[in-house]
Amino acid sequence: MTIIKKEVKRKQYQLIKGMKDILPEEQKYWQTFEVMTKNTADKYGFQKISTPLVEHFDLFRRSAGAVSDIVEKEMYNFVDKGGENIALRPEFTAGICRAYIEHGMLNLPQPIKLYSIGPCFRYDQPQSGRYRQFYQLNFEIIGEQDAICDAQIILVASKIYQKLNLPTVVQINSIGCADCRPAYEEVLRDHLKKYRSKLSEVSQKRFAKNVLRILDSKEKTDQEIVKDAPQQVDYLCDDCRQHFIQVLEYLDELEIPYALNPRIVRGLDYYTRTTFEIWPAEGDPATVSALGGGGRYDGLVELLGGRPTPAVGFAVGLERSINFLKEQKVEIFESFQPDIFLAQLGVESRKKSLALFEKLCDSGIQVSEGFAKSGLKAQLEMANKLGVKYTLIVGQKELIDGTIMIRDMEGGIQEMVDAKKIVAEVQKRLAKTQLNINNIAKEGDNCQNQTAK
Ligand code: HAM
Repeated sequence: MTIIKKEVKRKQYQLIKGMKDILPEEQKYWQTFEVMTKNTADKYGFQKISTPLVEHFDLFRRSAGAVSDIVEKEMYNFVDKGGENIALRPEFTAGICRAYIEHGMLNLPQPIKLYSIGPCFRYDQPQSGRYRQFYQLNFEIIGEQDAICDAQIILVASKIYQKLNLPTVVQINSIGCADCRPAYEEVLRDHLKKYRSKLSEVSQKRFAKNVLRILDSKEKTDQEIVKDAPQQVDYLCDDCRQHFIQVLEYLDELEIPYALNPRIVRGLDYYTRTTFEIWPAEGDPATVSALGGGGRYDGLVELLGGRPTPAVGFAVGLERSINFLKEQKVEIFESFQPDIFLAQLGVESRKKSLALFEKLCDSGIQVSEGFAKSGLKAQLEMANKLGVKYTLIVGQKELIDGTIMIRDMEGGIQEMVDAKKIVAEVQKRLAKTQLNINNIAKEGDNCQNQTAK
């Protein structure tokens, strides 16, 4: 009888287009931004809010605008088993406003300051710095219209980069309000109509329904055409002009570098008055990808069914910010940097090492180990790679003598220490050299700009 072996078909799965794995060696960059965000939020009085990844599709359609790129082309939406049209969030603001209304936050002392961090989804064409799943840090101040809130939001956005020694500039504009914008849109249409046939296909489509977006077109031909277009700031109503002047005065006071840029109109329909983006200081205006952006959105809460509530906020893209961090060669320390490596030789030593590892950790010492390795050479190589200051070696002889070998990894000097006194001995040695990385991170200063050295 012949036995036919069943052929097992192996399928190797790959990442879905536009997605990204964040591997262990990348995590330090993400943690840096997470720590920085938490510290900045605490300093300026923002509380964390976590809203679901999924919301009703209609929430985004109403907030971002039915003719925005996000809603027209980039939504990840599906009909769930209950027949509801659901979407993965393309941004945080709409979900946060929904939560603000739903949880009656209006009745709390205003303004409400909230921050979030997490993934968003946009079905766009992936390219450098553009993914279909990407992470945002998001800050909102809801319930106050004073220009000082716009300035504080821009300050917070700038601070995140400043603390990491990343040179950025705020590109700022005001797109007015429902009273003064329509008149400007007419002026702009009037100016552009003589060039209409020369505009890119996308801009031609935007001419009637979303003329402002022609201003931030990435197409070269459009950019040439809009160069001399009339600017919204010259058509603001008195209230909007006054508000914008105040925002700029606050920024001057705070010495935040900014550039007036009439092309910052943003891709979401809910903005009113202040709009801004954070660009790398050396970014080429024709091709730059914003690190972050935001602005005021005084009509959104009402549009979503709440009472009229002014608000302002921003979001930063983490992938782009991390790329920028790497380009600028900012060195980030590992948040876990072991000082000690625990090496062992033989079965009995390994057993003893397990307990010793716990004892060292419980005493607040940062330890790494090579339990899975048996040879000393391999373990010392690991210790070297980790950059520890000392390696403790527990061998057969040491086990009998009740001693532990302590090896200074820099000078290679080895000494025998009484096993009972090993924790105190390690603490004594480390106290001389130890730099508490976590405390530095708390100060928001866990980085060095290599180029600045
Ligand atoms: P946004 O400009 O659409 O604004 O996105 C903010 C940032 O998210 C961008 O500057 C960019 O860094 C990043 N980003 C956007 N799309 C992608 C993508 N496909 N791949 C990688 N990064 C991306 C908003 O989302 C508003 N909700 C900001 C806001 C908050 N306005 C008021 N409050």
